[in-house]
Amino acid sequence: MCGIVGAVAQRNILPDLVDGLKRLEYRGYDSCGVAVYQDRRLVRARSVDRVANLRDEIAKHALSGYTGIAHTRWATHGKPVTTNAHPHFSPDADSPRIALSHNGIIENSDELRAMLQEHGYVFSSQTDSEAIAHLIDYLYNGDLFDAVQQAVKKLRGSYAIAVLCRDEPHRLVGARDGMPLVVGVGEGENFLASDAIALASVTDRIAYLENGDVADIQLHRHWVVDSNGQRVERQVHTVAAHSGAADLGLYRYYMQKEIFEQPRAVADTLQDVTSIMPELFGDDAWRVFNSVDSVLLLACGGSFHAALTAKYWIESLAQLPVNVEIASEYRYRESVANPNTLVVAVSQSGETADVLGAVQVAKQQQMLKTLAICNVPSSALIRECQLNFITRAGIEIGVASTKAFTTQLVALFLLALTLAQVRSRLSDADEQMHLRALRHLPDAMSRVLALEPQIMAWSELLTRKDNILFLGRGMHYPVALEGALKMKEISYIHAEAYAAGELKHGPLALISDQMPVVAVAPNDRLLEKLKSNMHEVSARSGKLFVFADIDCGIAPSADMEVIRLTEYYGLLSPILHTIPMQLLAFHAALARGTDIDKPRNLAKSVTVE
Ligand code: G6P
Repeated sequence: MCGIVGAVAQRNILPDLVDGLKRLEYRGYDSCGVAVYQDRRLVRARSVDRVANLRDEIAKHALSGYTGIAHTRWATHGKPVTTNAHPHFSPDADSPRIALSHNGIIENSDELRAMLQEHGYVFSSQTDSEAIAHLIDYLYNGDLFDAVQQAVKKLRGSYAIAVLCRDEPHRLVGARDGMPLVVGVGEGENFLASDAIALASVTDRIAYLENGDVADIQLHRHWVVDSNGQRVERQVHTVAAHSGAADLGLYRYYMQKEIFEQPRAVADTLQDVTSIMPELFGDDAWRVFNSVDSVLLLACGGSFHAALTAKYWIESLAQLPVNVEIASEYRYRESVANPNTLVVAVSQSGETADVLGAVQVAKQQQMLKTLAICNVPSSALIRECQLNFITRAGIEIGVASTKAFTTQLVALFLLALTLAQVRSRLSDADEQMHLRALRHLPDAMSRVLALEPQIMAWSELLTRKDNILFLGRGMHYPVALEGALKMKEISYIHAEAYAAGELKHGPLALISDQMPVVAVAPNDRLLEKLKSNMHEVSARSGKLFVFADIDCGIAPSADMEVIRLTEYYGLLSPILHTIPMQLLAFHAALARGTDIDKPRNLAKSVTVE
């Protein structure tokens, strides 16, 4: 989604602003721009192309400057055209006094627009953001910090903003509510960004702003006031080695790199897990877990599939009833609140607006026992929930989630074991058995990754197809869902997943020699049932591509290709079977030449409803 970078420095800051945008590119955007103070004026360059194209625009207009703001936009109000790209100027483009970049949605922008038009402001874009620029200009009385403080009080909705003023060229002002914004602390220079990763090349010292904060950023100091106008200290953290994490290394795509990082990501996530204990989820977790009688899992996208898998684990291991809901559905439906439900929000980013909204709805209904499973410790979701478990996938850049998904599964499996233990349903022997399986998981994952050449060969066959059906049963049904999601989002091949037992209730009508069927076939107690479903496909000339486990008794034939995973991994099998799904989608997309890390129309972090 949208991204912000801003800097006050004593050198030409444009290369760093553009580098920051480049680092934010992975989040998905459709236009970008930069504004700087140059020769006593505010000037800007904007582009509806990639950041690389913005560099050409900057060179064409010979832009340079010591103070500036930059932005990547993902359109909500108004199409992705240059006039809608940020930064926005006020009072007008010819003699601007204010430049502004905004992330979020301003709900009262129509009212503000009408009021500002009455005061003579002319709007040159269709965005809600332009109203904030004019509002700040309207309120400006010689002090930008003061004007922004007044302006944000009049905004309804969500925002992170970075503002620059022609008359105070060594100053930036930032403010946030509902959207992330950080201050980057340098030596004789300071920064603002929507994500610390954007500042990786300039500083690793980061202060996270809180909702309602307004920050004054100058060359040698920064200060912050909260929503009451009180001066507050926001602790400066040193963010470990985040610059290297965003490098591709030997890989061509981030998704590819992240698929192969999974054994490491899982090992890191398990690093502090020496035994099963509630404290893995927070100090108060035992008391909370001991008082719940059910679990509600809330998530979107791939994280929703991780949550679906957890339902199988928690119900079978802990014998607790589990509901799994798409966050955007849950937040707007009338549900029956149960204060003794453990509400678990699963989110890689911890920023997904629907997940945050769903947790807030649950809390409004007195469902206060909340747990976040999240990959970003500084995210809004972590602050929103009582308990948390941080997955240690490391930064994930590919829009299609891979290592975040498998580490979420690890976290959710730990949750299932912990709930079982609290409910006296986990013997010491079983605990040790599961811990051993978890510890060996990175090795087992590496063995599945070694199947890549065989999977590549399949992807060449699938890449020419328009549709693919994915089948799975039991706890591998969510794996099939995840496989279909990965396939459609990055290869653009239409893909659907069905619980294999549902085949006869509809999708069987689609089976022909033009409809390849990918089956997830672990060697579990549902295997014989799945084999019957596979026969139903073969009997109708469907071509099967089966990911089976060793010793499963499924042999390749004219109408069935088989790749065997080297072992059956029991309850953790969905984690292993996810990997071939990722590799299949990746290689199909590669063969089709799509923009794998930035699939069209999609964004990594969906901070709007
Ligand atoms: C977007 C991403 C997906 C992700 C989903 C939920 O759609 O492209 O990869 O699964 O959001 O994101 P979250 O950060 O909440 O897990």
